[in-house]
Amino acid sequence: MRSLFPLYSSSSLFSNFSSSPYNSFISSLPLLFSSSHFSPFLSMAPAFEQVPVPQEGETGTETATPHNTNTGNNGGNDGQVGYKSRVTVVGSGNWGSVAAKLIASNTLKLNSFHDEVRMWVFEETLLSGEKLTDVINRTNENVKYLPGIKLGKNVIADPDIHNAVKDANMLVFVIPHQFMDGICKSLIDKVRGDAEAISLIKGMEVKMEGPCMISTLISEQLGINCSVLMGANIANEIAVEKFSEATVGYRDNREIAEQWVQLFSTPYFMVTPVQDVEGVELCGTLKNVVALAAGFVDGLDMGNNTKAAIMRIGLREMRAFSKLLFSSVRDSTFFESCGVADVITTCWCIHGKRGL
Ligand SMILES: NC(=O)c1ccc[n+]([C@@H]2O[C@H](COP(=O)([O-])OP(=O)(O)OC[C@H]3O[C@@H](n4cnc5c(N)ncnc54)[C@H](O)[C@@H]3O)[C@@H](O)[C@H]2O)c1
Repeated sequence: MRSLFPLYSSSSLFSNFSSSPYNSFISSLPLLFSSSHFSPFLSMAPAFEQVPVPQEGETGTETATPHNTNTGNNGGNDGQVGYKSRVTVVGSGNWGSVAAKLIASNTLKLNSFHDEVRMWVFEETLLSGEKLTDVINRTNENVKYLPGIKLGKNVIADPDIHNAVKDANMLVFVIPHQFMDGICKSLIDKVRGDAEAISLIKGMEVKMEGPCMISTLISEQLGINCSVLMGANIANEIAVEKFSEATVGYRDNREIAEQWVQLFSTPYFMVTPVQDVEGVELCGTLKNVVALAAGFVDGLDMGNNTKAAIMRIGLREMRAFSKLLFSSVRDSTFFESCGVADVITTCWCIHGKRGL
């Protein structure tokens, strides 16, 4: 069996981020079947702590969760009694619409959030001649990207991105990664300074100087903290409430992570926080490379054993590559939903489905 990414042994790779790991990664793509040499498996950190799922009918408390004001942004509540967070979803495709549905079901139950969830829609004119936004607001359904699923009456579609984000202190970014640079530029000085962001976007921005994580793009351009949510999350399955897990990667503010977990968790969507933004985000990005190799195995009719080997070695190489980019990345992250579970679901279930 051969490796997906070559072994990086030179310590100079760590000091020259812009050229070595990234270029090696790109140039390794044709080497999907070259030989593998990986160090023994490293020690596993404790897995995770669970955060309770909001229960049906739960009212939450009048007082929002107090936040640690020492760690930068705090979701905008400044510990105020009775403060309610406002959520906007930036994106309304297949996953964006499902994310809005999940969130909207929770904002109705949790008193620390305003009921309304604003969803920015990249405006399109449908074959009927109607605007997509008007149809979503009339039917409560995204007839183009998630037909047949009610989003919740408290989801309000808004084609004006500046209007959609202006009052929100919790911003959920979920659009194809190639549009993010332009979206971020258009949002400079338009979002609240105390807003918190989370990215559900799988992929990275590739620049001349090297790869740039989408969470970094958001943080740097908008000046706000950004967490991530990744996992084995085929949107259409979650839309019909089939059970899934997901992983929230957060930087240093556990209370912000708990707010995101509360906002997304349902009895059929179990969210686990881990303090490893880069690890979680890289899992969501690199698993697609492993899935390419799995697709080649399918196309060449090489069989299930070979595909399982690709997935196992691929996961190990995802870990090795991630650690080259960010030495802070944790081994245990690869055993969360964002890691092994997303590799499995993407390698086995991708046929005929949208990019995950
Ligand atoms: N679909 C899934 O099952 C799934 C699961 C997990 C993660 N994701 C990730 O979520 C992200 C969004 O995927 P999706 O499935 O919601 O998208 P999608 O492919 O269903 O929809 C594309 C969206 O992009 C919008 N769009 C088109 N042109 C645009 C432009 N110029 N500027 C801005 N927006 C434009 C469209 O209106 C539409 O809302 C991706 O990063 C994807 O990897 C998707």
